[in-house]
Amino acid sequence: TIFMTKLIVANWKMYLTLSQSIALAKRISNFKFLISKLELVVCSSFVGLEKVGKVLNGTHIKLGAQDVWPEPRGAFTGEVGLDDLAELGVEYVLVGHSERRRYQGETDAVVNTKLRAVLAAGMQPILCVGEPKRELGSKNHEFRKAKNYVRNQLRKNLKDIPNSKFMIHNSPIIAYEPIWAIGTGRPATPEDASEMHGWIRKVIVEIYGGRASGQTEARPTRIPILYGGSVNSKNAAGFLNAPHIDGLLIGGASTKAEELKLILSAC
Ligand code: PGA
Repeated sequence: TIFMTKLIVANWKMYLTLSQSIALAKRISNFKFLISKLELVVCSSFVGLEKVGKVLNGTHIKLGAQDVWPEPRGAFTGEVGLDDLAELGVEYVLVGHSERRRYQGETDAVVNTKLRAVLAAGMQPILCVGEPKRELGSKNHEFRKAKNYVRNQLRKNLKDIPNSKFMIHNSPIIAYEPIWAIGTGRPATPEDASEMHGWIRKVIVEIYGGRASGQTEARPTRIPILYGGSVNSKNAAGFLNAPHIDGLLIGGASTKAEELKLILSAC
């Protein structure tokens, strides 16, 4: 892989109460890890952000949100806006997680709007993509379908996000999360995930071109691509060692301190 530092993102979803979130954050804040090896981001619930953020303050662990409304403030009853996230010190925002697409009906257009808003606010969006189900048929057939699905999602979700966004430090991060692997205990194999990541990188270069103008580095090819879906302490190393996999997006296993610690030690 091209990244020496792995990006590990804990997605606590709605698994923990506020007090449980604080307790877990305290345990995690005592973890020893090498920042040359990994960057750790904790995405707590909105309710937990302030207090979890306080616990993590002064550590190397970064704060992330699981979603956001793509406006700073305003008449949006029940939503949480970008200004609040900024004030709380949020640096990363999950955008387009499959659970939001599924239960909140988030369309590709909404995901695109959120992505642009998060970038404009100077935070790092983590765009989640992935095919809904495994296709029957040969491996090739399955892969062709899944790859087309993911390419379509990327094209729609990254629509009209200018190339220049890739030249500043807060470029989008991509998380490949095949929906059939999320919370099922049946992850993709590292080989398959790796192949899809290679494909995603190709699609990004296809959308943006290999080089951003005036830059000597090919920025779009430097976007980290994370794998997510039933990652745990037993299978993490396999993903982390696979080509094209720059980090992990972890749900269930990230809510257990010991599991998370073991995963970090695999980096
Ligand atoms: P999981 O969730 O690790 O519990 O499968 C991953 C995710 O949805 O981000």
